[in-house]
Amino acid sequence: MANKANTLEALGLQLKTFIADKDAEAIPIRLIASLEDGTLDKLTDGQRAWVESQNWQPAPGQALILPGDSGAIGGVLFGTGGDAWKKDRPFLPGALPALLPAGDYAFVDDTSDSELTSLAWLAGCYRFNRYKADQSVRPTRLKLPAGADQAKVVALAQALYFGRDLINTPANDFGPAELETAVRDLGHTFSASVKVTEGRDLLADNFPMIHAVGRASDRPPRLIDLTWGKPDAPKVTIVGKGICFDTGGLDIKPPSAMLLMKKDMGGAAAALAAAFLIMQAELPVRLRVLIPAADNNISANAFRPGDILQSRSGKTVEIGNTDAEGRLVLADALSLADEEAPDYLVTFATLTGAARSALGPDLPPLYSDDDGFAEALQQAGTDTGDPVWRMPFWGPYDEWLKSSIADVNHISQGPFAGSITAALFLRRFVSEAKHFAHLDIYGWVPRPTPGRPMGGEPQAARALFAYLQKTFDKGEA
Ligand code: BES
Ligand code: MN
Ligand code: ZN
Repeated sequence: MANKANTLEALGLQLKTFIADKDAEAIPIRLIASLEDGTLDKLTDGQRAWVESQNWQPAPGQALILPGDSGAIGGVLFGTGGDAWKKDRPFLPGALPALLPAGDYAFVDDTSDSELTSLAWLAGCYRFNRYKADQSVRPTRLKLPAGADQAKVVALAQALYFGRDLINTPANDFGPAELETAVRDLGHTFSASVKVTEGRDLLADNFPMIHAVGRASDRPPRLIDLTWGKPDAPKVTIVGKGICFDTGGLDIKPPSAMLLMKKDMGGAAAALAAAFLIMQAELPVRLRVLIPAADNNISANAFRPGDILQSRSGKTVEIGNTDAEGRLVLADALSLADEEAPDYLVTFATLTGAARSALGPDLPPLYSDDDGFAEALQQAGTDTGDPVWRMPFWGPYDEWLKSSIADVNHISQGPFAGSITAALFLRRFVSEAKHFAHLDIYGWVPRPTPGRPMGGEPQAARALFAYLQKTFDKGEA
């Protein structure tokens, strides 16, 4: 039997079970690059003999449990292979919780970013067990280093767990209404206001493309609009693609491509994870989160290839393929966002398969015309173990979106640069926002790596938060 979804609060409590008391006696974990790097000098003679007898090599991600005097565990060695992991694989220590028996542990002699290492640990403790009879969690607890800010580390992990849970929950239990509930719960936690335009009201309020994409589902589409913060603070608006399931529509996806499409609300999940962090840190901004939520379904009243849709902006849009639904719902939400000329406007969306062909599942393309913003956002991603990579809004390809009978076609005809042309389509609906960025995320970890179990991943949420924190909260660390 399925269990209830975790609330944000439950996730916060669960996270605290992965953190040891400040004065707990913790088993020391030593990061070791090579057997000759001096780490072994810090062990007892008995432990050194143990290492030798195991014929153990400190390959990256390998742990060796060391005996203590009394027969209890005396320590742990964790191979890193050198310093490169800090840059290339900052979540490497996230392998440890799965490798170690229950107990209290602490990193010692660690010169790397202690908060990121602690976050990696917590990231590695995550399990999606809502549908499992076995609800037990393994209490592998980390004693945070003295310098680490526990509240900050817990918040970062809470946002990550929250986003992962949203994506991992299958579409039968997570439609537009449940997405709305998730936003309302988040809003409630921080006294934000949430307004929802649902079903035929989307037509009355001029969101024709959100309605057109979502109308074939018996779960009505909606635009979810959360606002928080002081009205006169700098405006930060985040738009997240909330397609709860993407069949492809009449241009139906083949089974292999449809299999993972519960994750097509990954942009919404990342947007909400970022929103959680922004509100939790009380950044001095006026935050707005817009989630166009819909199922891209097949039914007699589904929108069709060749249809010409009205958009909120007034532009007519010729439909080249009903599987390119994300950019349609985002366009109407972007038009609304742009109407109040926000200081920052950022989209998160599992928008194209082409993005993962270009950069793979781990590295979301980032688009922005603003060099300073793009570079700082990319840097913030590197610093927080949440990498993004800039790709160009390549102007010359914009004409690939020409339509002979409408103002614009939402796809280009050729097989080229699919992530760029999708980004260019979105850009056509933004003119007033001061800084605009678009993130074409994959939202999923296909092959588990340390700290990143297979499943949903709200990519780029920490990157954006870190950028905003640096920009608006200069006083704080
Ligand atoms: N949600 C998909 C994009 C996607 C597919 C993201 C697989 C991650 C993994 C999106 O709605 C889509 O189907 N896009 C099409 C666009 C095409 C029809 C122009 C795509 O990328 O194939
Ligand atoms: Mn699609
Ligand atoms: Zn989609």
